[in-house]
Amino acid sequence: QMKPEIQVFAKLEALTHAAATEFVQKAQQAIQARGRFTVVLSGGSTPKSLYALLATQLWRDQISWNQVHLFWGDERHVPPNDSSSNFRMAQEQLLFQVPIPQENVHRIKAENSDAQAVAAEYERDLKQFFQLGEHEFPRFDLVLLGMGANGHTASLFPGTAAVHEQTRLVVAPWVEELNSDRITLTPPVINNANTIIFFVTGVEKAATLKAVLEGQHQLDRLPAQIIHPAQGNVIWMVDQMAARLLSTA
Ligand code: 6PG
Repeated sequence: QMKPEIQVFAKLEALTHAAATEFVQKAQQAIQARGRFTVVLSGGSTPKSLYALLATQLWRDQISWNQVHLFWGDERHVPPNDSSSNFRMAQEQLLFQVPIPQENVHRIKAENSDAQAVAAEYERDLKQFFQLGEHEFPRFDLVLLGMGANGHTASLFPGTAAVHEQTRLVVAPWVEELNSDRITLTPPVINNANTIIFFVTGVEKAATLKAVLEGQHQLDRLPAQIIHPAQGNVIWMVDQMAARLLSTA
């Protein structure tokens, strides 16, 4: 396992620019090597500015969008047009503006009222797309993640069994603190990625970020600590406010 790389930015603009540069580079590398780029998008506020930047002409034109396949790391249990839908956010910020074929957009179909069925269907979709055998996990080229002030990432929340899942690709944990179901990729899927980028901004996340990166291992309290790619690398892109307690950055 490689040590995580921590990049600190004074301004959100610079962070977003660096993230877009990384995204384009990974896309070009993957497409050249394997003919396609598989990327997992996250919800949350920080990636929103990345999607908006990628949608601008200068950035958009650097990517061969018909070779890009988009997936989601997690989703709220709502229909795709709901204002809290992660899919909808990506659609508004990015998908409407780039020439990506509809069949390359692999959303989590969370309009189904049965959250377990939503997870099972997404798992089937992944197995089919990646042509996985039993006990195999997809290898995404890039996974984008955020982290909550409570240490959650994707929808792996403190104290939930999802954090310890080892066989399923997708689960639908009941999250007590949100009083709702979420649908999320599991740790073995995320950890099988080629590259993982975390976006963390804001002073309210500083203590959590320090605990996750420099504190004791305590997965049930800090699910983000479970993210350690087996054969890949993690980049933490953080702003100065979130990084202010770190001794290593
Ligand atoms: C979601 C996300 C989630 C998010 C964190 C951080 O659907 O909410 O995928 O894991 O990344 O909650 O969100 P912010 O960047 O908005 O703080």
